Amino acid sequence: MIKLIKSSFYREAKIKEKLLKFIEKSSVLSMSGECLKFEQAFSIKQQRKFSVFVNSGSSANLILIQALLNLGRLKKGDKVGFSALTWATNVMPIIQLGLVPVPLDCEPGSLNVSSKILKKQIKNIRALFLTNVLGFCDDLGEIAKMCKENGVLFLEDNCESLGSKIKGKLLGNYGLASTFSFFAGHHLSTIEGGMVCTNDEKLQQMLRMVRAHGWDRNLQVSEQNSLRKTGGVDDFFAKYTFYDLAYNVRPMEINGFIGNMQLNYWDEIVEKREANFEKIHAAMSLNLDFLPLKLEHMKLISNFAVPVICRDKKTFEKYKNKFQKAEVEIRPIIAGDITRQPFFKKYCSTNRVCENSSFVHENGFYFGNSPEYTKVEINKLILLLKKT
Ligand SMILES: Cc1ncc(COP(=O)(O)O)c(C=O)c1O
Repeated sequence: MIKLIKSSFYREAKIKEKLLKFIEKSSVLSMSGECLKFEQAFSIKQQRKFSVFVNSGSSANLILIQALLNLGRLKKGDKVGFSALTWATNVMPIIQLGLVPVPLDCEPGSLNVSSKILKKQIKNIRALFLTNVLGFCDDLGEIAKMCKENGVLFLEDNCESLGSKIKGKLLGNYGLASTFSFFAGHHLSTIEGGMVCTNDEKLQQMLRMVRAHGWDRNLQVSEQNSLRKTGGVDDFFAKYTFYDLAYNVRPMEINGFIGNMQLNYWDEIVEKREANFEKIHAAMSLNLDFLPLKLEHMKLISNFAVPVICRDKKTFEKYKNKFQKAEVEIRPIIAGDITRQPFFKKYCSTNRVCENSSFVHENGFYFGNSPEYTKVEINKLILLLKKT
């Protein structure tokens, strides 16, 4: 069996030993020093000023939208463009928090929204919450430029693309803020976990409040003093003063400890995924049963799963059965075309047809790309991708 998620985290046995010792000697296991250390180290690695660690990628998306509402940079009823080919909890916070989601189709070659697609909606939206799908992107630089020129807030859901680069710049560094998932099987795993990154000081301050109850406890002393002075709050009441709408989506020290261990392997993990993808993609490109991926613009592709888009339904059934019979775990391509999901139909009305996302939904599947796959496993995957 080739599993989608091969381990809970990279080098699991070795890190579990260290984790046990860490738990034994720790007096505090709720969010504390390890989480803070992980945030700071992640910021350096991702080349962003601030990182706010949370308990999942979904929570990262939720607090990002809430923080922007709290700051007044988004208002209820604003239209937010999003990638139709994405994960459910990318678009759910948009709906939950009273914004209007506007689906944007993907390009068939990159599986991502391009500036050409965005152009049709740029005047109609206040923000864009783009997903960098499966380690890929389209012309992200152009998209960022178009958003800037049109006063559109640009946010990246980078939960599937940690480590990928175009023109030497990491995905997740193009927008005002970006989100990451550290769920097992993603690039870096903390079992469950997520991050929001930004260079914007006010936004990171609000994100820290939204992450935990709306209080000021996790802010810098100068930020706390300023808030308390403005609100006339003394030190005693400051402990239980709640400044804005929030959740509790804090991670634990266990997640922080694992995150710090995993960061040592960031480069190794990305290199292995990149090498796996290169081999698999080369084999896949030779088979005309599949639609070609157009990824020449990408400098580094780091994904956790490999999409296979078949030419038609019959071919899809053939390869789906072939993979399943060979005991390779496969899934639909993320959540497919989100506008076809029951929750979307229940809460949103759209007459927009996302043709390409819909084609991918019906004719595509993905299998894993683990840095811990063996040569035998990679060769088996390559063999399955050969035309029969
Ligand atoms: C694009 C995207 N956004 C958000 C998430 C949610 O992340 P998590 O599973 O950590 O909540 C995922 C999960 O795979 C994802 O693919």
